[in-house]
Formats: sequence, structure tokens, C-alpha cells
Amino acid sequence: MNDPTPDEIGRLHQLRSLLREHNDRYHRQDDPIISDYAYDQLFQELVALEERFPEQIDPDSPTRRVGARPLEQFATLRHGQPMLSLSNRFSPRDVIDFHRQVTEGLGIDEHIDYHAEPKLDGLAINLTYVHGILETAATRGDGLEGEDVTLQVRTIPALPLKLTGTHHPHRIEIRAEVFMPRALFEKMNAQLQRQGEKTFANPRNAAAGTLRQLDPRITARRPLTLFCHGLGGVEGGALPPTQAEIIQQFSLWGLPVCPESEVTTGVDGCLDYFTRMAARRHELPYEIDGVVYKVNRVDWQEQLGFRHRDPRWATAHKFPAEEVETLVLAIDVQVGRTGALTPVARLTPVQVGGVAVTNATLHNFEEMARKDVRPGDTVLIRRAGDVIPEVVRRVPTLPEQPRSPLIPCPTHCPVCAAPVIKPEHETVARCSGALSCPAQQRETLKHFASRRAMDIEGLGEKMCAQLLQSGLVTSIADLYLLHTRRDRLIRLERLGEKSVDNLLQAIDRSRKRDLARFLFALGIREVGEQTAKSLARHFGTMAELMAANVADLQGVADVGSVVAHHVQTFFSSPQYRPIVDQLLNVPDTHWASIAAESMIPTTRQPLTGHTVVITGNLSMSRQEAKNRLESLGAKVSGSISKKTRCLIVGSDPGSKVQKAKDLGVAILDEAAFMKLLSGTIPLEDHAPENPS
Ligand code: IVH
Repeated sequence: MNDPTPDEIGRLHQLRSLLREHNDRYHRQDDPIISDYAYDQLFQELVALEERFPEQIDPDSPTRRVGARPLEQFATLRHGQPMLSLSNRFSPRDVIDFHRQVTEGLGIDEHIDYHAEPKLDGLAINLTYVHGILETAATRGDGLEGEDVTLQVRTIPALPLKLTGTHHPHRIEIRAEVFMPRALFEKMNAQLQRQGEKTFANPRNAAAGTLRQLDPRITARRPLTLFCHGLGGVEGGALPPTQAEIIQQFSLWGLPVCPESEVTTGVDGCLDYFTRMAARRHELPYEIDGVVYKVNRVDWQEQLGFRHRDPRWATAHKFPAEEVETLVLAIDVQVGRTGALTPVARLTPVQVGGVAVTNATLHNFEEMARKDVRPGDTVLIRRAGDVIPEVVRRVPTLPEQPRSPLIPCPTHCPVCAAPVIKPEHETVARCSGALSCPAQQRETLKHFASRRAMDIEGLGEKMCAQLLQSGLVTSIADLYLLHTRRDRLIRLERLGEKSVDNLLQAIDRSRKRDLARFLFALGIREVGEQTAKSLARHFGTMAELMAANVADLQGVADVGSVVAHHVQTFFSSPQYRPIVDQLLNVPDTHWASIAAESMIPTTRQPLTGHTVVITGNLSMSRQEAKNRLESLGAKVSGSISKKTRCLIVGSDPGSKVQKAKDLGVAILDEAAFMKLLSGTIPLEDHAPENPS
């Protein structure tokens, strides 16, 4: 074995002291300054070094301890059994390794059942019940002793102070995770902000800060809850032989348990569970940062035992980090459809939530100043689900380096040089150029064509810019004149005849969109899809809507004074009004009134009156596909006839495909079927095949 170099020894010590510092900030001060991801990276680096140089191991190393010492102000409580931690895995390969270590450790080759559970992003507590009565509750602390938070925990409504059911052991330690559901966290933070108090960065910090309130009355006012997920010591009583049955027993005793756990078999079962939970992560009402696999049989758990601070019978499989640190290279200003100026951080590219991120929004200049983010800063980026990546906060460097100045809000639009305006009571600054600003023109066109608006395929960012630059289009209304300019279109850079015709056809199809979509597509400030629907339903025609005054508009469900004002201003504006009038003169459209729309079966039940046939395997079950089609009004039949409106084709289809072709029935593959279900492409867009 090699001896460590002085550099390696230096790094070992540095990592230990860094990790101690970050542990303390995370566990004791509820004020972490690096992301969990960055922490994990440092931790893994230390684990790797200690594995290479075992003689350098220090029993006091952060790899051998959990958390930090208890807060001085709380009394300490010693856990009956130590509270340990979990090893982290990040890839399928890591999970295969874990499973191999389990099978080798047990010396068996048969299949292994795991209890798979979400890894809740809260904080661990140890509950002690004596003869079924809650006696104490303690935080994890250093794993051996934690803070006495009994008074605080007693305020959590979900927790029984007395167990229900029977066969309570004389004394039992139950391990649980305390957390704050996401929605309640948002609500609480909003309230704290209104009261001018300090808000919390995320639900985990909020839960920690709330549980460790010296004054339990404050804890009681905040929405904490918990799930019980494991066992500590047990005296005078026996528990069932598997993790799944233990959790079931907890539930019978009235203890809250996570409803998402399940028993699964082998690596495949674990990875399948991981994939499903990762997909549902953002739908769950609470935050999770991965899943946990536990060998289900308790006798096998005992046989496997522990290694340092982690059980060999359980592990955490973490999701890709959604918060990652990176460097701000520059800050640009983007001008949106309504003129809003958005500062955008250009970043050193990083992987966040599994995708490469190069830009992140800073929302507006007020927010940027509040977060004090400047070019050259290290920042924490967050990208959760489909949400646009955003800068969460600046990460101070220690010691502080000289920084570049804060970028002020421009006084003139960086694109068209029109003055920037910012009303006193608004947070957003805007370019006053309206449709004279090329950026607002382009964004207006892009929004009009977007999927949820007029859904004009092929009219994306680049094409919008090209059309405007060439002068072929000067407003959204000009799109409907483009067919008269086909020759000039073809001469545009990189546009062949085929793509020009596709675009013209897509524009032509957009005449069928309904009043609500049309209204949304106009891009009136504060008029989203829902408001557009309400307006369409209320007024029924464009003529009625355009004649409405502010009072009429406020009579519409969920239209307040602000929206009413924006709608009125839009239709009376000398810039927008002529464009709307021009659009209303486009022939053969369905958007001027609801009555025009009702000539085609759209909106509520778009498939009413149509018979649909399915063949082959879809990724959803046949029954589910049938249910979903029926919920849209379709009749699902088993055999094809001339009356069939379309055939949905999965993998390994049967002879129905040929029959559909023979009869000229439209054929939809699974992707088209999904679009049909989601309403992004209506049935009218699927032309019947020419009979062969
Ligand atoms: S079991 C000896 N199960 O993750 C096994 N822990 O990184 C101890 N956690 O301290 C942990 N959800 O605070 C377990 N379903 C779950 C969990 C879970 C969240 C937390 C817990 C623990 C930490 C370990």
C-alpha cells in the first residue's frame, strides 16, 4: 500500500474540518451555506481517501459521526440504541454493488426482498414509548445522544401521545422523520414574509428551525408532521420478523407511516421503484431526496450488521441533485413578451436535476438586488421538475474575494432603447416600447404560435426571428397573409419548399382554434389560459368582449380590477386594436365566437361521437387507455369498420393496421395518441388515410 503524500494528508485534514464546519451549520445552526450535493461530494472524497489510507483513520472523523453536538440550550437525551446513518448510492451500478454486498454478506444466492421507502427530506427523531405512552423525543444529535425535544414533538398533531391497539412493548424506540409538507411550508413562509419575519430557504430548514424552537408554543403554531420508518431498541415485547410487518404494526398502533413504501425484489425491483418515485417526486406533498432500500427480513438485517456508521442491510439511493453550485459568468437582460426585463445569469455549465444548465433566471432586478448576485459570484442553482432553472442564492466564498459591482436596472431597453418604466407598487421593470420593440414583437409572435396557444408547429424562436427580420411578417395578423408570399418565404435562408408548405399548412390549421385559445394567444397581460376560458365563456364573442368596459369585465369569475384594466387597455390600444381587427377579418376562422366553435366538436369532450379502436401494446394498460378515451367522449370498439374514426397502434400490432389502411381510417401511433389525450393535437388534425 502507498503512503499518502503531504498533499493528500493536507486534503484529508482540510476535508474533515470543512465537513465539521458544514455539519455544524446544517445540524445546529439550520443555516447551511453549501448544497447537499456539494456536501456529498466532499464527503465522498473523504471516504475515498480514508479507504485508500486506512492508517489515517481518525475515530473522530466526520465519516464516523453523524450530525453535530446538541444545542447547548436543550437538555440532552441518550438514545437506547445509537441512531445511525445510511450510505449513499447515486447510480444503478452502486445499487448493484449494494445488492452484491448483501448477498455475499448473507452467503446466499436466492432472491432478496427489500422494503423500498421514500427518503424523506426532513430530520430524524427518536421517539420512546413506555407502556404505550410517549415518554421522550430526541433529535439525532451525534448519533449517541441528541436534544430533548419532547415538548416540541408533543405539539405535532399527527403523533399519538398514547399508542392505540395492543401488545405494546414495555419500552420501544421508534425512529421517525419530521418534515413540513410543501404546501404548508409555502403558506407559512408567505405569512412570515407578511409579518416581516425571517423566512426559511426550504421545507427541511423550516422543519428543523421549527422543531428546535426553545419555545414549544411556536412549534405548535407551525405545520409539522412525521412518518415513522424504523425501530431502535425494544424491551419487554416482540416485533414481527420483517420491516414491512413492523411498519404495519406501527400503523396499527396509530403511528403515521409513509403510504408510498413497498416490498420489492432484487436489484430490478429496487431500480424500478427508484424510477417510479423519481417520476412522481414533484407530485408528492412533501420533499424527498431519494429512496431507501432495506433488507426486509429482520434476521438477515441482524446477520449483516453495521460498518462504521452505516447499516450493511440498508442504503439510500439519491436522486440527481436539484440544487448545484456554479459560477456566474455574466448577467444578461432579457426582454419578454410584455416588456418585462429579466436578468438572466449565464453560468459555467452544470448538471442540475439530471440536465445540463447554462442559464438561470434571477426573476427581476429587485430580486437580484435582494439576493445580491453579481457577475463572478458562486451561486446555488435550482431546477426542480419542469420549472425554469433559477438562482436560489449567492454562496459566499471564505475568505471574501473582491466582487464586481451589482448590475443596476437599465433606464432604457437594451433591445430598442425605449425608456424603462417601473410603477412604484410593481416589482417588475418594463420596456415601454410595446410592439415597436423587436424583442416584444418576437416574443408576442412566439407566444401566439406556442403549443397551448394557436399551436402552430414549426413556428419556434428561430423562425419567428427570421420572419420578422425579413419583414415578411410585422405582426401576428400577417401570418395569415403568408400564403400569398410563398415565393419570398422559400427564398428565406435554409427554408426549403417542403418546410414552407408545412408551415403554411400549420398556420392554416390554426384557424380552427377556439375563442379561448385565441384570447390566450393574443398575449394580453395577466390573461392566462384559465382567465381566457372564463372570458370566452362569459362574453361568447370577440365583439362583446371588445365592447366591455372595466365594470363589465369585473363581472367575470376570477377577473379582478388589475386584469380588467389590462384587457380594456389592450383592446383600446392604437397598437394592438388594429391587429385584432385584422385577425377577425381572416376568413374561415372559429375564434370570433363560441357559436363558431360549436360547429366542430371541441372543448369539453373532444371525442364525442367518434369510435376508436386500439391494437398492439401501449405503455399504459388497455383498460386505462380505454378509460381515458371514454372520458373524452369516445366509444372504444374492438373491431374496425368504415365508421371507425381512428386506430391507435402500439407495439406488436395485429392485422387491424392493414384493415385500417384498406378502409382509409386514420392511424395514430402512441406519441400521437398521447398528444390526443393531452389535448395538444386535436383529432381534426389527424387526417384519414387515403384508402389503399
Ligand atoms: S432509515 C439505520 N428510512 O435519512 C437506518 N432513514 O441518511 C437509519 N431518512 O438519519 C435510517 N427517510 O433522517 C431511514 N425511509 C427512511 C428515511 C430515512 C429519511 C433520513 C433519516 C436518516 C437519514 C440517513
